[in-house]
Amino acid sequence: MPSEDGDAMTKPDKETKEKVQKLAQWIVDSKGAAAMTGAGASVESGIPDFRGKNGLWSRYDPEEYATIFSFIEDPAKVWNMLAELIETIEGAEPNPGHKALAALESMGLLEGVITQNVDSLHQKAGSTRVLEFHGHCRSLRCQDCNKHYDDVHLYRTEHPPRCKCGGPLRPDIVFFDEQIPGAVIRESKELASDSDLMLVIGTSAVVVPAAYMPYQTKANGGRIVEINTEATALTQDADLSIFGKSGELLPMVLKAIKDLVEK
Ligand code: OAD
Ligand code: ZN
Repeated sequence: MPSEDGDAMTKPDKETKEKVQKLAQWIVDSKGAAAMTGAGASVESGIPDFRGKNGLWSRYDPEEYATIFSFIEDPAKVWNMLAELIETIEGAEPNPGHKALAALESMGLLEGVITQNVDSLHQKAGSTRVLEFHGHCRSLRCQDCNKHYDDVHLYRTEHPPRCKCGGPLRPDIVFFDEQIPGAVIRESKELASDSDLMLVIGTSAVVVPAAYMPYQTKANGGRIVEINTEATALTQDADLSIFGKSGELLPMVLKAIKDLVEK
């Protein structure tokens, strides 16, 4: 018996099936496709998004918890939120959406993934070219002297964990009001502009500069395809929007591609 809770698999309607078919064909025909993911891509792995009903920012005001100024002012307070985030991430596994993207890469149909997520789930699913636009939670570094620490769990003994120099340690993520590392922004721009198809998955597309990346593809004549449970800031500029859960839609796209190439 299918369960009736919110996590139940939704049966795709005719329009969704047609859109999936169209996207599958576009991917097969593309000279180089890329993807950009946001928090929605990991919701089905049990990691809440930021701006949704149960999102992290409904419980923590980002002004107080997510800017670099808030970290410098009160690192212990910000670490309460970070510890929760890291623990949630560590308990999470890739969902069928992450796995479908990894499969597309290994089939030579996806050049890489630009992700705003800090959860490493694309790598865990097997993707090899992952551009972590907002960093990751696999290691810590000192806010004062930049020394790196591989043991992310140092926070378990004190908030904030401290560097040998006394400075507060932070995860290797990007806080609001910080610069995106130059190398990742350059490589992402290059990937986006070299691609003729950009799949934008599970992001509200409001945080810049990440939200500009799909427009690099569009500016070079490429297409934008959005996969999201609802309309976003990007919808009006997308060539195709498929509404639904990425953990269900991406495996459908993969299956449609396999049917096409095996024909
Ligand atoms: P948001 O929380 O802003 O957006 C998540 C999007 O995913 C929303 O548009 C949801 O509708 C959609 N969504 C939810 N569940 C989904 C599902 N199962 N399948 C497909 N879509 C789904 O998250 P981001 O756009 O990632 O920054 O937020 C961007 C940045 O803002 C984050 O990287 C983070 C945050 O502050 C930093 O940490 C620096
Ligand atoms: Zn230090």
